[in-house]
Amino acid sequence: MTAPIPSLTLNNGVAIPQLGYGTYKLPPQDTRDLVLAAFEAGYRHVDTAQMYRNERQVGEAVAASGVPRDELFVTSKLNNAFHAYDEAHAAFDRSLDDLGLDHLDLFLIHWPLPAVGRFLEAWRALEEIYRSGRTRAIGVSNFQPHHLRRILDEGTVVPAVNQVEVHPWFGNEEVRAFDADHGIVTEAWSPLGRGRVLDDPTIARLAADHGRTPAQVVLRWHVQRGDVVFPKSATPSRIAENAEVFDFELSGDDMAAVTGLDRAERTGSHPDTENRTDR
Ligand SMILES: NC(=O)c1ccc[n+]([C@@H]2O[C@H](COP(=O)([O-])OP(=O)(O)OC[C@H]3O[C@@H](n4cnc5c(N)ncnc54)[C@H](OP(=O)(O)O)[C@@H]3O)[C@@H](O)[C@H]2O)c1
Repeated sequence: MTAPIPSLTLNNGVAIPQLGYGTYKLPPQDTRDLVLAAFEAGYRHVDTAQMYRNERQVGEAVAASGVPRDELFVTSKLNNAFHAYDEAHAAFDRSLDDLGLDHLDLFLIHWPLPAVGRFLEAWRALEEIYRSGRTRAIGVSNFQPHHLRRILDEGTVVPAVNQVEVHPWFGNEEVRAFDADHGIVTEAWSPLGRGRVLDDPTIARLAADHGRTPAQVVLRWHVQRGDVVFPKSATPSRIAENAEVFDFELSGDDMAAVTGLDRAERTGSHPDTENRTDR
């Protein structure tokens, strides 16, 4: 039996399952069945985005699953093209339509796009959507502390989460510390470093020590640090494997060994220089 997936509590009291299923780059024709495989394996949290162009298939899986809506946690994110206030509202409405839902659990600004300079405008739209009850929480993604500072100073809702790149080769400690200091939960995207960290000899040694797989060791490290994770896999056996991380523990030395692998190596864009709006 797989141990149950625990929840964390967001700053507005909403519970979020600490492990979810990431859907970026899933093959579109397989997405519905893979999300269903994740539900079958015990996942109750799905991370999608307008830019992943798979909300419709994720929604089909939600509808077909038979899992009561209030047991699921569904996140989507605002497309970079729609930071303008009216467009952010319209884009959110399209997400609900595409997912076939009457509310989301979490809606995020996907990237701050500093050169565009409109994330405060988008945040105002998200605050209104939140107050209307059509999403249970709002947050941001890829925000550096200086971007978050502007939301904290000029907004009226403190983001519930900041979804940023974190994995053993990129600990992102400064952002995680800023989030923690402000009651913002860090969600670790690309928790497996897109699979690249799994061949690391230290991870392999810990996996052998614990009789676990490298992916389970890495996910367990994230969980013990208190972050939310949603590994992506298009392989049903790996989807199940990735959820089995709540029945063993890494020691303090094990944790330090993984944290010590940090080499400041991102797999994705830097939030200060990512300004593309064509996705
Ligand atoms: N907010 C953002 O800007 C942002 C950016 C990137 C990602 N994300 C979110 O974070 C989620 C996860 O990140 P990600 O998809 O970039 O990468 P990831 O979850 O770190 O890694 C996915 C890769 O690892 C492989 N993998 C998964 N489980 C494995 C296992 N048990 N053993 C061996 N290999 C395994 C997968 O292969 P197979 O699929 O072939 O099994 C895939 O190649 C995304 O799906 C998305 O929801 C958000």
